[in-house]
Amino acid sequence: MQPLDLYATIEEHLDFKEEIEHLYNSIAHIVFAINPTSVIDIGCGQGDFCQILESNGLKTLGVDLSQKQIQIAKSKKIDAQCIDIKDCKEKFDCATAVFDVINYIPKNNIKEFLTHTYNLLENNGYFIFDINSLYGFEEVAQGTLTIDTDDKFIAIDANFEDNCLATDITLFTKETTLYKKDYGTIKQYYHENKELKKILQAVGFKIENIINFNLHSDEDFDKFIFVCKRVKNDF
Ligand SMILES: C[S@@+](CC[C@H](N)C(=O)[O-])C[C@H]1O[C@@H](n2cnc3c(N)ncnc32)[C@H](O)[C@@H]1O
Repeated sequence: MQPLDLYATIEEHLDFKEEIEHLYNSIAHIVFAINPTSVIDIGCGQGDFCQILESNGLKTLGVDLSQKQIQIAKSKKIDAQCIDIKDCKEKFDCATAVFDVINYIPKNNIKEFLTHTYNLLENNGYFIFDINSLYGFEEVAQGTLTIDTDDKFIAIDANFEDNCLATDITLFTKETTLYKKDYGTIKQYYHENKELKKILQAVGFKIENIINFNLHSDEDFDKFIFVCKRVKNDF
């Protein structure tokens, strides 16, 4: 199983619901204030954020690289496609990337990814996303966790080194009396705000706001929410 699909399989067992709702509500609040007619949610996962937008009357398309995530989103009647954003031909007033999506983009690809996002937007369109702070990676995201259910045993081991969080996931799924083993590593990357700001501006975004955010920790900000506006014409 490819690592993003493996994450999709175990996601329902991760106990983040309350924290994520807080993040969803904060980002949805920003989107509603912009009042766009169409939104693309990049890295939509199982479609929960799309559902919030749609239930508030916004036309939303969810896209994700994981076929498994998109299957689950579609089962909830979300308009969702397993497509790379570089192949998406539609334009939107607003793009979102919620709950770690930008962490998944390696340093070498971030400028290209942000350029594709820029190209998805109408002039004056908004891009809103969250990203982990260094504190979020070093102090919050690292660690080990095991989850034992009737038919699954999951082991997660996350280590942050050289600005990369490598999360090893091992999943044992009960099949009759035997267990099937799946294993994969998800990588997330720390992007320093200063560097990210430079790249966003070089691509053509104006940064309207960077909001400090506490997702899993009360002690320090473990995330930032970026609110960016497309201000230049197409290259
Ligand atoms: C932690 S999940 C968050 C999913 C969803 N936004 C949510 O709030 O539950 C990160 C998601 O980003 C997706 N992803 C990672 N890299 C991506 C990329 N380059 N383009 C689109 N989706 C990507 C993964 O497949 C995964 O579903």
